[in-house]
Parts: sequence; C-alpha cells; structure tokens
Amino acid sequence: MNKGLRKTVIAGNWKMNKTRAEAAELIKQLAVDGDKADVVICVPYTNLQTAAEAVGGSSVKIGAQNVHYEKSGAFTGEISADMLKEIGVEYVIIGHSERRQYFGETDETVNRRTRAALNAGLIPIVCIGELLDEREANITEEVLSRQTKLGLAGFTADEIKKIIIAYEPVWAIGTGKTATAAQAGEACGFIRGVIAKIHGKDVADAVTIQYGGSMNAKNAAELLAQEDVDGGLIGGASLIAEDFGTIINAAQG
Ligand code: 13P
Repeated sequence: MNKGLRKTVIAGNWKMNKTRAEAAELIKQLAVDGDKADVVICVPYTNLQTAAEAVGGSSVKIGAQNVHYEKSGAFTGEISADMLKEIGVEYVIIGHSERRQYFGETDETVNRRTRAALNAGLIPIVCIGELLDEREANITEEVLSRQTKLGLAGFTADEIKKIIIAYEPVWAIGTGKTATAAQAGEACGFIRGVIAKIHGKDVADAVTIQYGGSMNAKNAAELLAQEDVDGGLIGGASLIAEDFGTIINAAQG
C-alpha cells in the first residue's frame, strides 16, 4: 500500500457559480476539521479575494480555475499566475474538460499553463479524462497516456511530484453517472503507471491523483478507498456545505 506516501486532496470546483455574497455564506457554513485531507475550494476569479478572506485562519486553501501561461502583457481578459499568487491563491485547475470542450484548451496549452503555475509556486491540478466515445471505442488508455505525456512534458521529477492530476472521465461530469470505484481506481492506477515509465516508481508513488465526476456524499467513501485514488475534484456537491463536508470526512488520509 503506497497511499500513505502522498497527500490526499479534496478540492471543490465551483465552476461559474456563486456571487461574492453567496460565496462568503457558503464558506461560513463549511466545517472542516481533522487532517486526513488537504481541502481546497476553486472559486471564480471574482470570488478569490472574498474566499481568501472568508477562510481566514482555517485550513481551507484557495484555488483558481484557470491561469494564463504568459507572465504579463497584451492578453485581454486573462489572469497571470503572479496575479493569483498575490491574492493568496495556492492551487489552480488546469485543462478542465469544460475548457478543452468550450475554450480550445489543448494538451500544449495545458503544458504551458502548468509551467507558468509551477514557476509562480502555485500547485497545478491538471485535469485529464476520456470522452464517452473514446471509452466505448476502447481507447481510454491511449487518451490518458497522451494527455499525461503531452500535458506534463518537460518537467523535472521534483516538479512532477508537486503536480496534482485529476482523472475526470468526461462522461461522468455533471451527469450523475459516476465511474465505478473499480473504473476510477483502474484509470488512476494506469495514469500512475504512465508517470512511472517516464520518471520512475518513486516519483509516480508520490503524485496525488484525484478522481472527479459526479462524486457525492454517498459514493465518495468507496471511490476514495481505492488504492490509487488520492482525493477528489468535486463539482456540484462542493456547492452544498454539508455534502462537501461528508466527502472530506470520507477521505482516507
Ligand atoms: P461534478 O461533480 O458536478 O460532476 O463535476 C465534476 C467536475 O467537473 C469537477 O471538476
């Protein structure tokens, strides 16, 4: 059992939800105790400052949902890693399937954003996952392998250890259709194997790999008990304080 070698991280992805007032209210309701998992909430840009203030002295960390790959310049509408860092952000989601689907995100831009995040001292949560068509065509492993290799190309072993990978099968996101614990465990184990082939087993054993896709208060314990599932990236259920709390408590540590 190598689970103890890595951090368990439970992260909420609020997506494009909550005004600032609603964000402050939800964070007030979050009761996080115990130290079985690192807890992160990834909120919209406009809520970052509010969230950073609202978590106060608690152990909850703040994450953003995207970051630009350049340091500064003429990139209208974009936000740099240094800007995030300045307001107390510690994590950033990169390459979420919604960004791949709607905003032209590619493995190459995922790689560049991850580089920018690491350079600024942010912890990247790099999302990968297959489409339903790809699972049905039996090319899940090919897709995960490509996304892992290209998204994480060019990083040193020490950098790889700092990166969190979120395995999110696209067909399970927001659909209420969760991967079975076995499917989640198998895919996360496969991704770890891809990293082991490139960087060696010690590095692969140190990387936190989350599962995401309709994780909720009911199914979290079984998913999080899988040897290779080191946490969760939670959408809908992270917007309900009680459910998110239950998921955090289901973490295995
Ligand atoms: P749901 O938990 O709403 O399926 O969303 C998962 C997700 O996309 C987290 O990034």
